[in-house]
Amino acid sequence: MQYKRVLLKLSGEALMGNRQYGIDPERLSEYAKEIKQVVNNGIEVAIVIGGGNIFRGVAGEGNGMDRVQGDHMGMLATCINGLALQSALEDEGVHTRLQTALEIKEVAEPYIKRKAIRHLEKGRVVIFGAGTGNPYFTTDTAAVLRAIEVNADAILKGTRVDGIYTSDPEKNKDAIKFENITFKEVLDKGLKVMDMTAFTLSEENKLPIIVFDMNKKGNLVKLLSGEKIGTVVDNQ
Ligand code: GTP
Repeated sequence: MQYKRVLLKLSGEALMGNRQYGIDPERLSEYAKEIKQVVNNGIEVAIVIGGGNIFRGVAGEGNGMDRVQGDHMGMLATCINGLALQSALEDEGVHTRLQTALEIKEVAEPYIKRKAIRHLEKGRVVIFGAGTGNPYFTTDTAAVLRAIEVNADAILKGTRVDGIYTSDPEKNKDAIKFENITFKEVLDKGLKVMDMTAFTLSEENKLPIIVFDMNKKGNLVKLLSGEKIGTVVDNQ
């Protein structure tokens, strides 16, 4: 299937590149260049980005911090990443809008579904910051939620591995990759694609998930040109 409008989920950790913390400008610029190509190919792109390169709410809780407080810090971290990505895309001449689930309107537009769709129709990349705006929800859940709200054809989950395997390919070299898998099979086999909240929201709303390696140059462009990249999770 050729996708017309997609939601790209990027992990915050991926932005670190080889660093221990923060944002690697080279990685950011590679992402921006790749996103520019797909936009130039006429695909509408919305983006949700994580914040784990700066702060993870769950980690805060592990250190004795209040979970909600930690999650708020994580949400702000996604806004920092969103601003960085916006800037990198604008350096490439891509029109963008950043919309946040928590209002920081001196910095970015508040999230308004209709406005987001209008931006997408005009060929602007829309970056959604601050997750869902609620604690206890992951940015994967935010990605699925926004994808459904803006009627995206699929959610593209950029990861470090190039798809879904029978077992963890980083631990087991005999692991086999699936090209296609159904939501039900993922659950039956106990495979991990996203957290359960995000996964079931996707399944219930028939939103296909494509897991692929975002760090391999050209992968995003190839995937959106119809090449078999990564693993597709859907209902067929
Ligand atoms: P259309 O006119 O509908 O095509 O959209 P537009 O985004 O160009 O129009 P708008 O006048 O809403 O926005 C102009 C600029 O102001 C854009 O760069 C927006 O991102 C920015 N903008 C709009 N609303 C806000 C806001 O609440 N806060 C911030 N910081 N910027 C905003």
